[in-house]
Amino acid sequence: MDLEGKNVVYLGGFGGIGKKCVQELLKKQIKGLAIFDLIVDDDLLAEWKKQHPDTEIFYQKMDITQKSDIDAAYKATAEKLGHFDVVVNGSGLLDDRRIELTIQINLVGVINSTLTALEYMDKSKGGRGGLIVNISSVAGLQPTPLMAIYSTSKTGVTTFTRAMASPIHYAHSGVGFITICPGYTNTGILKDIDKKTTFPFYETRMRTVFSKVKGQTAEVCARNIVNAIETAKNGAVLMLELGEIHELDIPNLWNPQLDDCVFVCLS
Ligand SMILES: NC(=O)c1ccc[n+]([C@@H]2O[C@H](COP(=O)([O-])OP(=O)(O)OC[C@H]3O[C@@H](n4cnc5c(N)ncnc54)[C@H](O)[C@@H]3O)[C@@H](O)[C@H]2O)c1
Repeated sequence: MDLEGKNVVYLGGFGGIGKKCVQELLKKQIKGLAIFDLIVDDDLLAEWKKQHPDTEIFYQKMDITQKSDIDAAYKATAEKLGHFDVVVNGSGLLDDRRIELTIQINLVGVINSTLTALEYMDKSKGGRGGLIVNISSVAGLQPTPLMAIYSTSKTGVTTFTRAMASPIHYAHSGVGFITICPGYTNTGILKDIDKKTTFPFYETRMRTVFSKVKGQTAEVCARNIVNAIETAKNGAVLMLELGEIHELDIPNLWNPQLDDCVFVCLS
């Protein structure tokens, strides 16, 4: 998608990867930018507004665990910007000691944000279509034993996003979906990671393992996220690892046998 003149909603825009993505997006002459987050950096927000006077930028406080906050944020954005073309669900928590909160933020929150955004974007409901980008993780591609809860939440994001990208939905809504799976990226989410694992009593070994994983900077990851928004096709699952973009081909393991009647109904 050519981003020039587009309206973008970014959830988690004041996080480590989020800030860098916002900066990349602002280079693309976007028309409007709504940042939904629990936190705000007022100085940075003021700097972005000063540097990009032609882009309407605003912050909307939102706790993604609260459906009422999500509803209010999208409503306010639709009122301010008229419509939005791209939504990036980029909020997240890594702390396996907080099971419910991890699932609420990383999975239920992303689902609620996506379905609420669709109410405005879905062509069959009077919207213009567009693109929804859900940030999963490499831990959302395979079981990750050291962070089993986080990995479960992110695997849910990958599956949900791939399901939403189905041509069955796309033909109806005109909204495409891509899944972004960053590898280790140097941000605050990794702080004290050895204390946030599923079983902290393995702490010493965890610290050794985590300290050896190669990572990338948030800038590099953000550049590739924005590149993906510009170039990826509906349904793409992209692993952003060590500065490279790898499009993954995830096979279907179950191929349902359809009887004639069901086949006719689905086709
Ligand atoms: N950093 C990595 O190594 C890495 C790797 C793979 C995936 N990711 C994913 O990338 C995304 C961004 O992570 P990051 O590394 O920038 O981490 P971060 O901690 O710097 O940013 C997380 C963002 O989520 C927001 N957030 C947290 N709880 C929220 C809530 N209840 N309501 C609304 N917003 C909330 C925070 O305010 C922050 O803006 C996350 O989804 C994360 O899971 C990160």
